[in-house]
Amino acid sequence: MSNIAQIPKTIFDKYDAQVVIDQVSKFGSSALICISRFHHNKAGFTDNILNKFNKIDISFHIVTGEPNPYDVDSVVLKYRDSVDFVIAIGGGSVVDFSKAVAGMLDADVKSVDEYIEGVGLSKYSANPRPFIAIPTTAGTGAEVTKNSVLSVAGKFKKSFRDDKLISSLVVIDSSFLQTLPDDVLKYTTMDCLTQIIESYTSTVKNIFIDLLIESTLEDIAMLINNLLQNNLTQKDYDKMSMLGYISGIALANCGLGIVHSFASPLGAYTTAPHGVICGKLLSSCTKENILWLKENNKNIQKYEKLSMKILGDANDTDNLLKWLENITQQTNLKDLTQYGFNKTLIKKVVNEVKIKTNPAVLDDETLINILQTLN
Ligand SMILES: [Fe+2]
Repeated sequence: MSNIAQIPKTIFDKYDAQVVIDQVSKFGSSALICISRFHHNKAGFTDNILNKFNKIDISFHIVTGEPNPYDVDSVVLKYRDSVDFVIAIGGGSVVDFSKAVAGMLDADVKSVDEYIEGVGLSKYSANPRPFIAIPTTAGTGAEVTKNSVLSVAGKFKKSFRDDKLISSLVVIDSSFLQTLPDDVLKYTTMDCLTQIIESYTSTVKNIFIDLLIESTLEDIAMLINNLLQNNLTQKDYDKMSMLGYISGIALANCGLGIVHSFASPLGAYTTAPHGVICGKLLSSCTKENILWLKENNKNIQKYEKLSMKILGDANDTDNLLKWLENITQQTNLKDLTQYGFNKTLIKKVVNEVKIKTNPAVLDDETLINILQTLN
């Protein structure tokens, strides 16, 4: 039997402040809206919110860069006595930041640090204030997960995690994707693809998630092809939104693999966006996983099925790997060295990699070799 983690109430529709208001007025009369700089600066966007939310007191906080515990703490301190609920409008960083703020508004510890795995020792015992996620990218799945990824540059990138942190409401409007810069759309899609592949091949078996993912696979090749050709249709954007959402449900239930294990320390020690790290590593890590499984006479059926469903090939993992290599080249994401990655970091990163639900047990030498090929 497969257990299913809680999935938040979700509205797939054109974003309309009124739809949100109808849903959230039960949460109180004052809201903190954490918003990306991009959407805050978008002409008329915040005015429209203020006009429509006229019966709710609105405060805006602009989230910039990677969410970190210090900013969470200062926003909590500022709004603890004045805010009934929290809304996130932005990408994964904004959603993670807002989720942590909502979780901390009634907590009685000094800093969210105390709840971050591997950083603090406290057990979360508060109740979060209601939290509404309106993601504007499709990839991280943060809107459906129970964790908030927080980082301190050069030190750590880890999760504040609790079942109670799950969003009270998610509103997904694919037209937000059409406003994203080209490179952001590409690397968030690579994050999404990585999450789909890693949760599908995870050591955690879940029939429900398998069926859910398999229902998306036939669209992926066409979707990525259209993305790379700058030829996305409205239907493609809708599918991308759904894919990002499903990838979040999948990772919440099955966990992730070696790419995301690398992504935590690489995200802490470089300034590379999470999706860029995924895009740079997906192909080489998948290759090493399949190699290890073959050499150890383990089942590679999931990778064969990926190849068959995505590419229409009869169980040929070589073609899957070629397809991933091609995507890696064609997305043309910036090299990690441009974000501060260098070879001296390799050992430090490998020491922090935890292979929990990755299907292959890769040794340090293999992990080092994967990072040596990065530039
Ligand atoms: Fe991810």
